[in-house]
Amino acid sequence: VRSVTVARRLDGPASRWRAPGRVNLIGEHTDYNQGFVLPLAIGFGVTATVRPRSDAWLHLTSAQAASGEVIEVSTLAPGAVHGWAAYVAGVWWALHQGGWRIGGADVHVDGDVPVGAGLSSSAALECSVASAAAEVFGLGLSRPELVQVTRRSENDFVGVPNGIMDQSASMLATAGNALFLDARTLKTEQVPFALSSHGLAMLVIDSKTPHALVDGEYAARRRSCEAAAATLGVPALRDVPLAGLEERLQGVADEQTRRRARHVVTENGRVLDTVALLQADRPDAIGSLLTASHVSMRDDFEITSDRVDLAVDVALRAGALGARMTGGGFGGCVIALVQSSGPSGPAAVAAAVEAAFAAKGYASPVPFVVQAEAGAHRVAATTG
Ligand code: GLA
Repeated sequence: VRSVTVARRLDGPASRWRAPGRVNLIGEHTDYNQGFVLPLAIGFGVTATVRPRSDAWLHLTSAQAASGEVIEVSTLAPGAVHGWAAYVAGVWWALHQGGWRIGGADVHVDGDVPVGAGLSSSAALECSVASAAAEVFGLGLSRPELVQVTRRSENDFVGVPNGIMDQSASMLATAGNALFLDARTLKTEQVPFALSSHGLAMLVIDSKTPHALVDGEYAARRRSCEAAAATLGVPALRDVPLAGLEERLQGVADEQTRRRARHVVTENGRVLDTVALLQADRPDAIGSLLTASHVSMRDDFEITSDRVDLAVDVALRAGALGARMTGGGFGGCVIALVQSSGPSGPAAVAAAVEAAFAAKGYASPVPFVVQAEAGAHRVAATTG
């Protein structure tokens, strides 16, 4: 890997795709337990332009990197590429592993997903690059196949042991819908998520919490869940029914492991309940499920932080119908289901959270409103 600074002009045929980040409406830490998730794609995303080269090199540039910096990658081996470039090189590696021996390319990326906020900036990067590469090299890969490629890249090349939710949301979500995904069968269903016709809105508040230790904690949660499943004699916590849960959990001696399992099993139930309400056109009724999810993440799974707990509490007191942390945890973003305007609208709820953060001396949180947007899509690539 070399990092050089040169003036560069891209020409020749190119493919350009944009892939979004996501918020997860509900279903946290359920995907790697072969359970259910319900994310939606958001307006922030990454646009990738991929232009084949005549050699095997990758020349990577980013609108967010120092101007003129080109990262040149010649060796695709896990551990050999670092930083954002690993998420791009990993796509080539995963394609090669899958038997698609494509050549090198000039890749330019330009993204606006806040990094480290739990909004899947990495999935947006991987999915935009993989979509553009698959098209420009004529690989004919389906969207579910691209989910597998990008997931393999992140798990085995970048080395992050995450589940399949984020790449699925970025590739498979559609505008106006949340994506109901069964992480075992990989069956998906588009679930209507039209808040505005109900006078509602989805407020996101980035708590700006530093993400120290996230990787180790995430892996630790996975291990606890696997241990619980083994003790309970099931392939995955997905297989533990809600009915009779507390009796069954008596069989798990370790109190902490028991709480981890309780979160996953009850969370799967909350996802199914949320899907049923949305299918019945009752988005106004999902608030208590969102809040219950937060309480479960806070008390049983222990993946929240002081700041996200504060943001949830204040949002609820300011009139939100429901609120929860979204994403892997230990900080990141909170989502709040709010009225679309008025004294409990997005501006008022955001102002209440900002005031509470200021009173504690915390850095200002960043609020924004999201809608369910389209997953990865081609955009015109007329200029380099
Ligand atoms: C991260 C991972 C996902 C999922 C969530 C928690 O976003 O990438 O696979 O496990 O955490 O729900």
